[in-house]
Amino acid sequence: MSDTMQKIVSLCKRRGFVFPGSEIYGGLANSWDYGPLGAQLRKNIKDSWWKTFVEKREDMLGLDGAVILNPRVWEASGHVATFNDPLVEDVKTHKRYRADHLLEDADVNIHGMDMATMAKAIQEHGIKSPDGNALSEPRQFNLMFQTTIGPVQEDGNTVYLRPETAQAIFVNFKNVLTSSRKRIPFGIGQIGKAFRNEITPGNFIFRTLEFEQMEIEYFIEEKDWKEIFTDWENAMQDWAKDIGLDISKISLLDIQKEELAHYSKKTIDIEFEFPFGKKELWGLAYRTDFDLRSHQEHSKEKLEYTDPDDNKRKFLPHVIEPSFGVDRTLLALLVSAYKEEVVDGEERIVLQFAPHMAPYQIAVLPLMKKEPLGSKAKEVFELLQKNFRVEYDDSGSIGKRYRRQDEIGTPFCVTIDFDTVENGSVTIRHRDSMEQERMSVENLISFLKEKIA
Ligand code: GAP
Repeated sequence: MSDTMQKIVSLCKRRGFVFPGSEIYGGLANSWDYGPLGAQLRKNIKDSWWKTFVEKREDMLGLDGAVILNPRVWEASGHVATFNDPLVEDVKTHKRYRADHLLEDADVNIHGMDMATMAKAIQEHGIKSPDGNALSEPRQFNLMFQTTIGPVQEDGNTVYLRPETAQAIFVNFKNVLTSSRKRIPFGIGQIGKAFRNEITPGNFIFRTLEFEQMEIEYFIEEKDWKEIFTDWENAMQDWAKDIGLDISKISLLDIQKEELAHYSKKTIDIEFEFPFGKKELWGLAYRTDFDLRSHQEHSKEKLEYTDPDDNKRKFLPHVIEPSFGVDRTLLALLVSAYKEEVVDGEERIVLQFAPHMAPYQIAVLPLMKKEPLGSKAKEVFELLQKNFRVEYDDSGSIGKRYRRQDEIGTPFCVTIDFDTVENGSVTIRHRDSMEQERMSVENLISFLKEKIA
């Protein structure tokens, strides 16, 4: 793991953003738990996404579908047949690896390779397992987690944990259309957990067994796809800016034809320069009418749209799909925000989150624990809590408390001292510049509202 990644992982554990999953039992590969600050940051990401893409848009509606769907959904979507990764096994340790990742690590171009050419390439390039042992032939491994409904495992009651949230949107297309009477173009957005049986090391929360997606299926007429694709490309980048991602680390990758998912005619990966390399942060795909057509065929239900403005012409809408991962967004936010500097000969670590995204926006710090500072500080805390996410901290030296707030990314500290009791003024300390200014409690709320909005 790179130096920066190690520092971020350690800060996340130390301050309560992310903990190793099931740690007291020795952990679980590719599984992480979010601590108090991580849970709040995730919520802020999801709230911002929902507000931007669902609440504030007239052409968007929300949905909250089930995790376990009728298994026929995954036959129709193509996931049972094609949602596979090529796996190889170390013949001695029996550890499994992604064949495509091992080849890519050895700088072999894997574009368009099928299983047979991958097997040949492994031989030709002398690819070994990370433990230096020979590898088995690659074989396809389906990424969907299976489980069983009912007490006995028998044919016919196998179900899958959804590997993407998208399908609940497609199977509810008709329900949403009929109940909302929306006209095309319109979209349906959904936030929810997805599950994939990932077997390779995941680079912290980048690749995990369960993760959360924020997905939009935007229903259009086929002729408009190019224009609407570009609109979404721009909307995704605008949101990246809005939540405070480091834009200089973002780039777009046009996926090669041979690499496209089975449903896609065009896909762009929105990539981010993580400390472990440039990787997919989000995806934008033109799914054509693949999903609605396939569900229509498999379910025998008509899923066509009737155009009220064009002689009741019927057609199957095409779809543009902007897809975002909550966990990768959180990691990219941490990477964007993480800064180290030296102040008065001491190292200072700061998370420079945008004020509207920070887990806590303000910390209220009484200079000392003793009265009357404590009750005055509580009064200010309760006042600010009505409008902002506020932490109260009265333990330890004020310098140490400032450093802690820097490390968790709190943009403003409000310090209560004896002058506060006497004349109602407080000190505001700015996280990034460390500058301090005095202000009356009456002016505090409007000042902070302006800075945090
Ligand atoms: N519906 C399309 C779809 O699922 P995807 O590129 O496989 O496309 C979309 O996934 C997004 O979900 C990714 O861009 C990424 O942000 C997130 N994601 C996918 N697999 C993940 C994993 N194993 N762990 C964390 N996030 C993941």
